Amino acid sequence: MVRTVTPERRARAERQNRRMAVHVRRATIDDMDDLIAMRVEVAREGIWIGAELPLDEAGDRERFTTTIEDGETSAMFVAMLEDGTLVGNLSVQNPVGIAHLGMNVADGHRGQGIGVALMEAALQWARDAGAHKMDLDHWPWNHRARALYERFGFVEEGYRRRHWRRKDGSLWDAVTMGLVLDHDAPGHDERAAEPPR
Ligand SMILES: CC(C)(COP(=O)(O)OP(=O)(O)OC[C@H]1O[C@@H](n2cnc3c(N)ncnc32)[C@H](O)[C@@H]1OP(=O)(O)O)[C@@H](O)C(=O)NCCC(=O)NCCS
Repeated sequence: MVRTVTPERRARAERQNRRMAVHVRRATIDDMDDLIAMRVEVAREGIWIGAELPLDEAGDRERFTTTIEDGETSAMFVAMLEDGTLVGNLSVQNPVGIAHLGMNVADGHRGQGIGVALMEAALQWARDAGAHKMDLDHWPWNHRARALYERFGFVEEGYRRRHWRRKDGSLWDAVTMGLVLDHDAPGHDERAAEPPR
């Protein structure tokens, strides 16, 4: 059977090819400078993440070091191109069985499946770590992030109005999403009217 190469099919193939060239692994301390540099650039865009310039770089380095070296209650993943360029990261914090995610893909590398690859690694880590749930927050206009999270089954659990104060004084709404990993423990699937039995 002859398959016509439509623009959509070509775009999908190119995206797939690019995706294969990306490798996700656990971060090491040697990645620190690249992690900080990418965080600065994404913060500079001003509309995607909570962090605003100027960053508390010393504080970020300390937190990243703890996350990278821990690996049990928290972990950091990086997405690397074959030439060694760091193009994405995902951190996951799981102190009480709720694995909280934060992630970035560098501008120019978005929409190519890198977020999906990072999420796959984080989901596996959370399951292995025994988390009963994952959660995260995003700004309401971050449709690409939303599409990624929904693809993995996250659902909106809260819309927080005028929630976060920005450095310019404005108050930004925030969306909280969750993904249940443990469906077996006693509890509710619908809004609870009584305690679990
Ligand atoms: C949000 C982010 C992590 C997603 O990673 P990514 O590598 O760009 O996303 P992917 O290429 O893996 O695509 C994820 C989904 O988004 C969809 N998508 C891609 N571009 C999109 C766009 N412009 N608008 C809406 N959805 C889009 C894709 O179709 C894909 O869904 P599908 O596979 O079901 O089709 C990344 O874009 C990013 O870092 N953005 C800036 C920082 C940020 O927003 N961090 C998250 C804060 S909550």
